[in-house]
Amino acid sequence: MSTDLFLRDAEPPDADAVARIHVRTWQQAYRGLLPDAYLDSMRAEDRARRYTFGLGDPASPRTIVALAQGELVGFATLRAMSDEANSATRVPTLVGELCALHVDPEHWGRRIGLALIRAARARMSAYGLRSARLWLLAGNTRAARFYQLDGWVEDGERRTEVVWGASVDEIGLRRGLP
Ligand SMILES: CC(C)(COP(=O)(O)OP(=O)(O)OC[C@H]1O[C@@H](n2cnc3c(N)ncnc32)[C@H](O)[C@@H]1OP(=O)(O)O)[C@@H](O)C(=O)NCCC(=O)NCCS
Repeated sequence: MSTDLFLRDAEPPDADAVARIHVRTWQQAYRGLLPDAYLDSMRAEDRARRYTFGLGDPASPRTIVALAQGELVGFATLRAMSDEANSATRVPTLVGELCALHVDPEHWGRRIGLALIRAARARMSAYGLRSARLWLLAGNTRAARFYQLDGWVEDGERRTEVVWGASVDEIGLRRGLP
C-alpha cells in the first residue's frame, strides 16, 4: 500500500472529486461492457448531486475516501441491507453490500483498492454484519480477479439490468466477515 495513503469518511465537500473519479473509472473500466452513448453522456456534476455524504441517517450508504498526498484517488461505498437469500428462513438478517469501489485509473495497481476494500470490510464488521455481498458487471475481469484475491466467491445469483436499451449481466459475489 502507498505509505502516504490516508482513508477517512467522505464529507459533503468531497462530492465533486468523488464524482469525477466515479465517471472516469466507469468510462475506462466499463468501455465495451456498457453502451458508449451512456458512458459518454455521464457528467460528474449530475453524480455529485446524488451523494448524501455527512448524513447521520444510519440507513444511508456510507462512503470511505482514499487520499494520496492530499488528492482524492478512490472511494468505497457500503450499506447494510436485508439479506434476501436468507428470507426463506423467515429470520430477518442483514448483510453488508459493497455498493461501489472505484480507484482513479491513474492510480490503479498501487494497492489503493485493497486498502479501501479492507476498510469497507472492517466497517461492515464493526456494524455487526457477518457477511458481505456485491454485484460485479459480467466481463469486468480486472475487478473479478481483484475480488477473487480478496476472498469473494460467486453466490450463484445473477441479475440483468437495462442500461440505455442494452442488457447487462451482473454476477453476485459474497464473502464472510470476520
Ligand atoms: C478494481 C479496482 C478497485 C482495483 O483497485 P486497484 O487499486 O487497482 O487494485 P490494488 O492495487 O489494490 O489491487 C491489486 C493488487 O492487490 C492484490 N490483492 C488484492 N486483494 C488482495 C488481498 N486480499 N490480499 C492480498 N493482496 C491482494 C493483488 O494481488 C494485486 O497485487 P499486485 O499489484 O501485486 O498484482 C480498480 O481497478 C477500479 O477502480 N476498477 C474500476 C472500477 C471497478 O471495476 N470497480 C469494481 C466495481 S464492482
